[in-house]
Order: sequence, then structure tokens, then C-alpha cells
Amino acid sequence: MTTKPRIMYVHSFIVNFLLLQILPEYDFIVVGGGSAGAVVANRLSENKNWTILLLEAGGDETEISDIPTLSGYLQLSDMDWQYKTAPPSSDNVYCLGMIGDRCNWPRGKVLGGSSVLNAMIYVRGNKFDYDSWAQQGNIGWSYADVLPYFKKSEDNRNPYLVRTPYHSQGGYLTVQESPWRTPLAVAFVKAGMEMGYKNRDINGETQTGFMLAQGTLRRGNRCSTAKAFLRPIRLRQNLHIALHSHVMKVIFEKSQSVTRAIGIQFQKNGKKSMVKARKEVILSAGAIGSPQLLMVSGIGPKDHLTELGIKIVKDLKVGHNLQDHVGLGGLTFIIDEPITFTKKRFQTVPVALEYVLNERGPLTSLGGVEGLAFINTKYAPDHGLWPDIQFHFAPSSVNSDGDQIRKITGIRDSLYNTMYKPLTKAETWTILPLLLRPRSTGWIRLKSKNPFVYPIIEPNYFAHKQDVAVLIEGIRIAFNVSNTSPFRSFNSRPLLTPMPGCRKHELFSDDYWECAMRHFTFTIYHPAGTCKMGVDSESVVDPRLRVHGVKGLRVIDASIMPTIVSGNPNAPVIMIGEKGADMIKEEWK
Ligand SMILES: Cc1cc2nc3c(=O)[nH]c(=O)nc-3n(C[C@H](O)[C@H](O)[C@H](O)COP(=O)(O)OP(=O)(O)OC[C@H]3O[C@@H](n4cnc5c(N)ncnc54)[C@H](O)[C@@H]3O)c2cc1C
Ligand SMILES: *[C@@H]1O[C@H](CO)[C@@H](O)[C@H](O)[C@H]1NC(C)=O
Ligand SMILES: *[C@@H]1O[C@H](CO)[C@@H](O)[C@H](O)[C@H]1NC(C)=O
Repeated sequence: MTTKPRIMYVHSFIVNFLLLQILPEYDFIVVGGGSAGAVVANRLSENKNWTILLLEAGGDETEISDIPTLSGYLQLSDMDWQYKTAPPSSDNVYCLGMIGDRCNWPRGKVLGGSSVLNAMIYVRGNKFDYDSWAQQGNIGWSYADVLPYFKKSEDNRNPYLVRTPYHSQGGYLTVQESPWRTPLAVAFVKAGMEMGYKNRDINGETQTGFMLAQGTLRRGNRCSTAKAFLRPIRLRQNLHIALHSHVMKVIFEKSQSVTRAIGIQFQKNGKKSMVKARKEVILSAGAIGSPQLLMVSGIGPKDHLTELGIKIVKDLKVGHNLQDHVGLGGLTFIIDEPITFTKKRFQTVPVALEYVLNERGPLTSLGGVEGLAFINTKYAPDHGLWPDIQFHFAPSSVNSDGDQIRKITGIRDSLYNTMYKPLTKAETWTILPLLLRPRSTGWIRLKSKNPFVYPIIEPNYFAHKQDVAVLIEGIRIAFNVSNTSPFRSFNSRPLLTPMPGCRKHELFSDDYWECAMRHFTFTIYHPAGTCKMGVDSESVVDPRLRVHGVKGLRVIDASIMPTIVSGNPNAPVIMIGEKGADMIKEEWK
């Protein structure tokens, strides 16, 4: 950081809540003010007859979190829970290129949740994702059912897109392209076209294709769900927001044979209190927080909870079915022209001024990602409409921003110094090939019944052979992208330095790539599925997001996805918030 950004907001919003007296009882209690929780709190408080308490463990956003390109700087800050995956077992290894064989798992601990830390990329997933949810028995979740909820939130600023049936204007959430891009972004889209893909709205009728990314941006600044859904309603008297309030457990009452959630216990400023919910408790604490809270409160796998001495309220498969998007990190290509994103070029005073004065320029880039592609490997369904690999295109590499990417990925010195440090003066670009629907699933388990102790995260990446095979194909297609005429015109060539730990394999052979992905394992932080929605014995919530077997308790966040959506999940989670809130309104009419 070379400059101190402008003072952006008047913080009266928060002052409001500092003075707040928390009442002993509300109609609804929402736990977690993230992508989903902010939406739920907004929509429920539209009914003036209801009182709502939103509890958030973190504080408010800052001026830094407003600047799109600096999103990486929020990781490992106090706005981040700073989770890490458990070291892998010896029979399935991953994250080997990271210090301690552990990948960092950032999660937002701030009002707006992970929508404050994320790269802002606006993607909805594929029609077939939602249709398959519906086919699994989740009535009301087909693509036709969910599309109106995506549109309900949306204020798309692209005049061409809003004329299509897939987008809308006037919602709380602003969506637009970054006003700035490198010439390589255009090369990326043209490369796709040369390979036979269309340049199209990947959130429209067909997902397969290449596109310049849209993001949750508002006039060049981040549009988190706190900014979109909570700031505009700060004067609503019936919504109270308690920041720095860590919810410790859900409290149940049993009468006859019915168990009902009647409130929560939380800690703020070192003081523990309890609040009651007349109608419902809603967990929107995210794919790690929600299953943890359920388990410490007695809802989870019976054997696991018994082992920890937790009294069973309901035996359910909480924490199972953990799914995430994972790919190969650091797939780097080199060019000659000085047009890429480097710290030297873009962390400068003129660049900062352009942002401060005009809300434009390189600082508005979506966490450095300019282009997206949804492509088919030979393993994808034959109809070609449900791609199995996503590319994120960035005009930069691990070295480009000095030390930050190295720090937040936690890569080992040996890996960094061998492959990326020598590129300090080079012009580089990267494709991140990512598995859209991994078959490997992992789990979240408690380490302790103490709610302040972090749970154990085992993503179990690449356990399924098919995931390795699909990703190898994705990597090979990325090489083909780099070999199209738009990139050849920049004299683009792959970085040829073999990855430490993988030198025993022939460079760029299948074995080499498998080794590389098990070293530079790259999650883009999309955990989902840990409180699965469904009607089967693996599910935790029903299709109306009510926790099976108890009353007055729902989960509304990324954890309810039965299968992870084929795309970046922030917009889908916001949709889940919209739909969940509507279900609550229907039931309490
Ligand atoms: C670094 C990063 C980059 C990403 N990039 C993108 C992207 O570009 N595009 C995209 O679509 N998606 C992206 N994602 C993913 C996306 O942001 C998440 O999937 C989404 O925000 C999840 O929403 P959620 O509501 O389930 O959880 P969250 O938004 O994480 O919200 C959970 C909230 O609950 C709070 N909480 C948790 N436990 C408690 C407790 N016990 N008491 C009180 N409060 C609690 C948390 O502090 C948090 O505010 C990214 C995520 C990260 C971390
Ligand atoms: C609020 O309560 C009033 C009085 O009971 C009722 O007439 C009104 O319909 C309620 N509003 C909503 C939105 O439910
Ligand atoms: C990459 O391109 C080559 C040459 O056109 C082609 O033979 C190969 O099948 C492509 N690879 C993949 C994985 O599509």
C-alpha cells in the first residue's frame, strides 16, 4: 500500500448500533451477517410487525475493503477468521506446497461476511445445477424457480444485459464490469473464440463460453452485502444489528416430543448473554460456522458428538458433504510487453489518484481477475451445456504483487523461490483451471465442544481419481488457450521451471500435473454443502431450509447446497438468502 485511500463513509451506520440495547426477545434471530445473513435480515425486517436481531462476530467494513484490487490484503487480517485445512492423511495428499501441508481458508469475519473478502466475481452457476437439486427432491429449487430470486437482488449496470430475460435493474446489489482492463483480457476472450467457444453472458441462457467478468461492484468500489442490503435500511427501527457478537450455541426447549429452538447464547465484550426468539432462529454463519454451531448445540452425527461429551438433540449428518472448488495454482505464462499487472506499475500515486478522484483505473480490477471461461473437457456431459472446468484469467502471477499472494496462499519458500521469485521483473499472466463439480467430498468435525475452538477442516481434495483426470484435461486446454494467435501475438510462452517436489516426473506429463496439483493446490474458497438440503438420510435441512427433526430453526447460507454450484457461489448464496426469507414470510403470514 503506497497511499491512504479516501475516507469513504460516514460511520453513523455503526454508531447507531453501538448505542443499541439488545432486547431480551425478538421474533427472529439471524446468526451471521454475511452474504446470506445480510439479505435475510433485510427481507425479514420489511415486515414492520416483526423484530429482528442480527448477530455478527466481526465488526464493520473499512476503506481498504472497499478497494477491489486490494481484496487479497484482507486475508490474514482481523476481518478474516483465518482457518486452515487439517494436514492431509498419508493416503490422499494435497496442499503439499504450503507451509505445514495446510491450505489457508479465509472466511469473512465482518458485517458482509465473505462478500467483503471475496474477489467480487458475479456468477450464478449452471441451470443444470438447480434442476438437479430439484430432481433430488428439493421442490422449489429448479432453475425456473430460482431465476426470479437472482433477478430480485440485482441492479445490473450493463444496458445490453438488462434487456435480456436473465438480468434486471433496481435491486439492492449492484453488478457491473470493472471500468478498467489490460489488453490481455481481450486476448483471452478472443482466444476462446478461436477455440470455438462463444463470447457470451455466462449468466444467461447458456453458460459455456468466455466473458469479461462482471462483479459486485458499485462505481468502481466493492459492493458487499453489508453495503447492498444493510446500509440502505439502517433506519429501520425493527432491525437490531449486534457487531462483535459471537454466538456460542442454540438453545432448545423440549415439551412432549417436540424440540424447539427458543434462542441463542452469545458473547460480546467478554460478557455472555442469552436472547430469545419468539418465532425462529436462522443460522447464516457460513459453511464452517453453521455446522459448527449446530454440532456444539447437539445437532450432528451421534457418535462424533458423544465422543466429545455433547448431549444429542438430533442425530444428523452435519459437517459431511463438504465440497469446494479446487484447481491448480500458479499456472504461469510469460510475455514481453509491459502490459501486465505488477506492483511496481500499479501501486503508484497516479493510479491511486485515478481511483480516488474518478473511481476508475487498475484499482477497480476484480481482485485482479479479468476474464472467465466455462469449458468442457472430454468428461463433461455430451450436450456441452454443463461445463466441468472454469478458468479464471489474471494478467499477473504469484510474484506480481510483491509478497501478498505468497503470504495468503502460504506457499513454501522452496516453491516460491524456485518458480516465482525469478519472475519478479517478468511480465506474466495466469489461468487458474478449476474443477466445477468435484466428486471428492470432505467434512468438518469438532475439535472441541468449546464454540471458540476452530473445527477440523478436511476438504479431501483429489481423493476421487476422476477429479485428477478432469483437472489434467483442464490444464491441457489452458495450454491450448495460451497457444492461440491472440496470445502468440504477445509471444506468450509457458513457465518451464519444474515444480519442486515434482521433478521426478517428466515435465507436463499426466503424472507431473497430478503431482503439481497436489502441491500447488489452489482453492478459491468456496466451501459449501455441510448442512445439506434434501429429503434423504444424508440431509440436514428440508427443502424449506428447516433443520430436520426440530422446530424453529433454519440454516440459510452456502452450507445448504446439496451439490456445489458450477460457479462462484456469492450470487447463489444471495439467492438462497432471498428465497429462504420468502419461505419464512410465507410460513408466518
Ligand atoms: C477470499 C475469498 C474470495 C472469494 N471470491 C469469490 C468471488 O469472487 N465470487 C464469488 O461468487 N464468491 C467468492 N467467494 C465465496 C463467497 O464469498 C462465499 O461463498 C459467500 O460469501 C458465502 O456466504 P455465506 O453467507 O454462506 O457465508 P459468509 O459470507 O462467510 O457469512 C458468514 C457470517 O457469519 C459470521 N459468523 C460465523 N460464525 C459466527 C458466530 N458463531 N457468531 C456470529 N457470527 C458468526 C461470520 O463472521 C460471517 O460474517 C470468495 C470467498 C473468499 C473467502
Ligand atoms: C401487521 O399487523 C397489522 C395489525 O395486526 C396487520 O393489519 C398487518 O397486515 C400486518 N402487516 C404485515 C405485513 O403482516
Ligand atoms: C489441444 O490442442 C491440440 C491441437 O489442436 C489438440 O490435439 C488437443 O486435443 C487439445 N487438447 C485438449 C485437451 O483439448
